Amino acid sequence: MRQPVVIGNWKLNGSPASTEAWVSAVLTGTGALDAVEIGMCPPCVLIPSAVNGSAGSALRIGGQDCAEQVSGAYTGEVSADLLRAVGCHYVILGHSERRSLFGETDAVIARKMVRALAAGLVPVLCVGETLAEREAGHMEAVVRTQVRAVVDVVGIQAFERVIVAYEPIWAIGTGLTATPAQAQAMHAFIRGLLAEYNPHVARIVRLQYGGSVKPENAAELFAQPDIDGGLIGGASLKAEEFLSICRAAAETR
Ligand code: PGA
Repeated sequence: MRQPVVIGNWKLNGSPASTEAWVSAVLTGTGALDAVEIGMCPPCVLIPSAVNGSAGSALRIGGQDCAEQVSGAYTGEVSADLLRAVGCHYVILGHSERRSLFGETDAVIARKMVRALAAGLVPVLCVGETLAEREAGHMEAVVRTQVRAVVDVVGIQAFERVIVAYEPIWAIGTGLTATPAQAQAMHAFIRGLLAEYNPHVARIVRLQYGGSVKPENAAELFAQPDIDGGLIGGASLKAEEFLSICRAAAETR
């Protein structure tokens, strides 16, 4: 049985004060939620505050990106080892905003995956198609390329630890959500793709859905057989909304 995992992606939002308040509200509210793995990924400089606030709890903290390099003259970069050293559990990699706004290619993402895995982090690998790609019927081909580019570099065995987040780009921050049937179809497709490499890994790998998940639509999405939780952007910023999404994930188990 795969444990559902719900992770908040704060993107470039939040402050030291809001991080502290959010962590304490979520810890109070998740007391009875041990059926779900819960995490949050704040902007890098807020990680220590989130890690300190959640010390001793089941709440896990992560980064939103890491460098493809280990160390050296790379102004502005943060390595996977440093994220791990300050207490991160996860790192989100290949988010569509990194791909489209910061020019990250599949090859760059695969190299970052190698660093994240070597550092002992759990990578949350984001994949997903644009609206034009979906309308042209290319969503499976796009996602297949994104997934294979990474599996072929890190190896299928690494996916026992990796979380894959299917995030259709047209649903991110737009208020448009994939229907549960559309999301389930793509999750089943990704699981099938991984099964071509290794059926055991495909059965245990956790696949999150992301893209305008809200308290109102979470239960129906998480009830789909191949959806094992969510990567939550906007709705993760308010502790109450995030908590009700976590409760929806707990109720599917
Ligand atoms: P959203 O973002 O929930 O605000 O659509 C999801 C994401 O980008 O991870």
